[in-house]
Amino acid sequence: MAPMRTSAAEKAHVTNYDIAPGVSAALKNFVLPEKLGFGLVAAPVMFSAEWADGAWGRGRLIPYGPIEMLPGARALQYGELVFEGLKAYRVGAAEPNLFRAGENYKRLARSAQRLSMSPVPEALFFEAIGAVVGSCHRLIPRESGRSLYLRPFLCGTEAGYLLRNSTTFRFMVIANPVEIYSSGPMRVAIERDDVRAAVGGVGTAKASANYAASLRASNAAVARGLTVALWLDARDQRYIQELSGMNIFAVIDGELHTPALDGAILPGITRDSLITLARSLGFKVHERQMDLNELLAQISSGRCSEVFACGTAAILSPIGLMSDKDQREYVPARIDVVAATLREALLAIQERRAPDPFGWTRAVSPLAI
Ligand code: COI
Repeated sequence: MAPMRTSAAEKAHVTNYDIAPGVSAALKNFVLPEKLGFGLVAAPVMFSAEWADGAWGRGRLIPYGPIEMLPGARALQYGELVFEGLKAYRVGAAEPNLFRAGENYKRLARSAQRLSMSPVPEALFFEAIGAVVGSCHRLIPRESGRSLYLRPFLCGTEAGYLLRNSTTFRFMVIANPVEIYSSGPMRVAIERDDVRAAVGGVGTAKASANYAASLRASNAAVARGLTVALWLDARDQRYIQELSGMNIFAVIDGELHTPALDGAILPGITRDSLITLARSLGFKVHERQMDLNELLAQISSGRCSEVFACGTAAILSPIGLMSDKDQREYVPARIDVVAATLREALLAIQERRAPDPFGWTRAVSPLAI
């Protein structure tokens, strides 16, 4: 039976949260290291709220650290976990800002719905983000390309092996000051055996299960000296879907092409933003079914001049090479030309260094904790 969901519970949610002892000291004692990596450095605080007896309890801002969970929790046993990734910036303005955070909220709600988990009320989502970003405002890097990566997640905490949803949930926001996700052009391994997601499955949800499904191919790619796996559709193993954790674009005859959302691809917010931004800059953008073999032929003939990846973590990362299962390599003629133009245009908006004609950014109030 699906867990009880009542809008009354959402309405009853109190938009205040508690601040645990130790939060102030954790924030005060935190020193931002020079080398950040991506997820190596944890912000000193995190937000947690729990759903039980049909209602969300009061949220808490707590020092970052291990959490307790029953070993039989469905999040651990059955992967009942959905998450988001978004960034807070502090480059162009002293106060922090978010980028299209409402889209992250909507996607988390859709992901929770796909796994029939209790939804997180929008007010709770933004309360949590506001608490973490607001309290950490001083440690958000100010250099372009660096930011505070936010990882909200919702997981089922009830122990039990019956294949049904948990009746208790935990919603958390953890954060990491980060630098750029990938260094240098990516070397792509075309994955022709494993499947990441099929239409009707959970590919369009940001569910941890999708990322688990991609790990074997990621390891195999790294073992071949490559960076990331490229996924094909589950039915025909022919049409391009996405890279592990990123969407993909190709420049063909000077126009942008990206796989249309096929019911298994994750609808990336960076992907969506790029489509809008590129069109506003005069590029023609096509969302269509993309045959991998056709793209490889277009790279070989030079019609496809450039390929790149995009995502919250990746921003826009150039692809330097695509390697097939038979070890044949396809090298686009240009690396990071159109991608560089679009990356700078997007980052300038995200970082509030340029006007935001789309209304994509919103400020977060710094908190004096
Ligand atoms: C993100 O870009 O936010 C993701 O979740 C991708 C992950 C591989 C870091």
